[in-house]
Amino acid sequence: LPSHLTVRDGHLRIGEHDTVDLAERFGTPLYVTDEMRIRGNFQRLSGALTAHYPKIRVLYAAKANGNLAIFKTLASQGAGADVFSAGEVALALAAGMLPSSLLFNGSSKTPADLALAVEKGIRVSVDSPDELRQLDRAAGAAGTTVEIAFRVNPAIEVPTHPKIATGLATSKFGIPAGQILDAYREALALEHVKPVGIHCHIGSQILDVEPFAHEVEVLIDVARDLLDIGVNLSFIDIGGGLGIPYHRETDRAPTPEEYAEAVMPVFLRGIKELGIEPELWVEPGRWLIGDSTVLLTRVNSVKTAHKTFANVDAGFNLLVRPTMYDSYHEVVAANRADAPAVREYSVTGPICETGDILAKDRMLPELEAGDLIAVLDAGAYGFAMSSQYNSRPRCAEVLLAGEKAALMRRAETIDDLTAPMVTVPWQE
Ligand code: LLP
Repeated sequence: LPSHLTVRDGHLRIGEHDTVDLAERFGTPLYVTDEMRIRGNFQRLSGALTAHYPKIRVLYAAKANGNLAIFKTLASQGAGADVFSAGEVALALAAGMLPSSLLFNGSSKTPADLALAVEKGIRVSVDSPDELRQLDRAAGAAGTTVEIAFRVNPAIEVPTHPKIATGLATSKFGIPAGQILDAYREALALEHVKPVGIHCHIGSQILDVEPFAHEVEVLIDVARDLLDIGVNLSFIDIGGGLGIPYHRETDRAPTPEEYAEAVMPVFLRGIKELGIEPELWVEPGRWLIGDSTVLLTRVNSVKTAHKTFANVDAGFNLLVRPTMYDSYHEVVAANRADAPAVREYSVTGPICETGDILAKDRMLPELEAGDLIAVLDAGAYGFAMSSQYNSRPRCAEVLLAGEKAALMRRAETIDDLTAPMVTVPWQE
């Protein structure tokens, strides 16, 4: 277990808190996040990179968890954010991040998104020439200029789940290397956009550092061509994607130091040869917050049929990763954490679908109704991807800091389900 997860008197603890007490105090299901762990993760990753080069900027990939408290935690560490929507912009600014520390990403921005970037002075990662022209017009209409990067499609195969490999030649993201110079030329010719960076992201949950080194090589090649046409790069953004060891026993996840050791020499050699000194930006989501959080869920009933099911109160409405990507999350019997694993269980949620399985065929202690299960590494793309499917209000999120524990999001109620609904006139 990572250092913030421990066992005392048979109970799983997170930070300085007993998970059984937290479940009693706040109810289940419950997401519990250790703020100290996020701070530690940020320091470790940013330290590993700055050890090689001082001009590093860490942009939190806000989609991993959009709670304002998480933005504030990372803002206080000096992080900026990779933002994909007007909502993420609003949250980042509300947390005190400066517009200049954000990058507005995305392959399908609305006119309103572009106008927002112009209004706030947020740099934009432009995903197509069409978007470039729209942005130029929006900035022109406001009488200003927007700094941009283009998102490059590096055509790199990455070893991860196909749904989260974004740098493939066939992916919807980015501009193919063969078209990228023309895009920059066009930007140079326009009056209200100023190309200052390059952006790339090859995918997520990558457990090998080699694809990142390859990505940086591709970006350095683009930077070389850009120098020739007169683009002066102030940043190169290599995106996020560093994976974490969800299978603690078998995954060999690179450390941030190994990641830095793989990418930084390629980057430093490249920029030295080109005689430029751009900032290096990274956009980690999962690595910063993935392991900071457990999802606590109560066993409602146990059934032995052709196998044994532990039916719990959280399903893919609250954690969709196992269902959507066949992801593995470790589960712990939180109130019997010392007991021997004696029986194989599938931990299944309350949703009316066969695929609603949080954990398949796991050896766990003998379970009964009322027991508490902790699903580990639920911090990234956990609550963020939750839904109200089956008309279930979303659960609460709690933040811990040392001895303190507080709600960072209350549980939704049945009234929250109906609040946005409107009675149509002919049913009044
Ligand atoms: N930058 C960009 C442009 C991205 O699209 C993403 C993630 C990141 C950074 C952060 O990647 P990370 O460091 O977290 O791997 N829902 C999926 C993951 C989707 C990732 C989407 N983009 C999952 O649960 O595995």
